[in-house]
Amino acid sequence: MNFTNKNVVITGGTTGIGLATAKAFISAGANVLITGRNAGNLQKAAAEINSPRLTTVISDTSKLDEITVLEKAVAESGNKVDVLFLNAGIGVFAPIEQVTEADFDAQFNTNVKGHFFTLQKLIPHLAEGSSVLFTSSTVATASNLGTSIYSATKGALNKIAQIAANELAERKIRVNIISPGPIATPGLDSVVPAEAKEHLAAATALQRLGNPDEIANTVLFLASDGASFITGTEILADGGYINYALR
Ligand SMILES: NC(=O)c1ccc[n+]([C@@H]2O[C@H](COP(=O)([O-])OP(=O)(O)OC[C@H]3O[C@@H](n4cnc5c(N)ncnc54)[C@H](OP(=O)(O)O)[C@@H]3O)[C@@H](O)[C@H]2O)c1
Repeated sequence: MNFTNKNVVITGGTTGIGLATAKAFISAGANVLITGRNAGNLQKAAAEINSPRLTTVISDTSKLDEITVLEKAVAESGNKVDVLFLNAGIGVFAPIEQVTEADFDAQFNTNVKGHFFTLQKLIPHLAEGSSVLFTSSTVATASNLGTSIYSATKGALNKIAQIAANELAERKIRVNIISPGPIATPGLDSVVPAEAKEHLAAATALQRLGNPDEIANTVLFLASDGASFITGTEILADGGYINYALR
């Protein structure tokens, strides 16, 4: 796939799925802007990608004033955005009795409010015919124990994406949702112990965790002209996780 001269914005692009996707777009010729909360993580990602076509912006998507920083960076670039990948996300897992207000707010502010207002503020900067992609999760469909708030954020995100697809269609902007199954990332490592990862791998039809490059490939496909008639839908890239649970 060729994305030469295309401008790509990825929120949460410093590790895991976002980093793999940034690398894939750079390899495909795009100019890529990545965000994250942490300057050190951004520097590390920039060193790893090592391309003059990469820009980094410190922007915490859970804070509206920091979304404005991202918008300003995009406006000052003078380029319209061809691909907006809204990927930043956090998960905190606990049974309902143990969920705190802080955990609730952190997940909704990052996974829902942040994506909504990033989209809202960047809509004027989207090119006609551009592609917007949201990272959701199979948890929006499944009902796993201890994931009530995380799953609710992804369900909410899916609905926002579907309505955005309808509202933006008149500008020929396609909006789609990628729902990964369990993917081996620093994010997964931070919330799931090793034995639980084996359980997650065994819960997929393919009997393994996915890797971030496999999600990046799905993102590039959905952003490409090859997906020109795909909008308003959710693509599961989950090693058969959801279907396998129904066997
Ligand atoms: N791994 C999985 O199994 C899996 C499955 C389904 C869905 N997902 C989803 O995939 C997305 C990426 O997750 P991942 O597994 O790749 O996790 P990850 O390795 O932890 O990456 C998360 C990225 O988001 C950034 N981030 C987190 N909070 C942010 C905020 N408030 N503002 C800006 N950036 C923020 C992180 O950078 P900083 O820490 O530097 O801010 C990092 O770049 C998430 O939306 C997650 O819910 C993951």
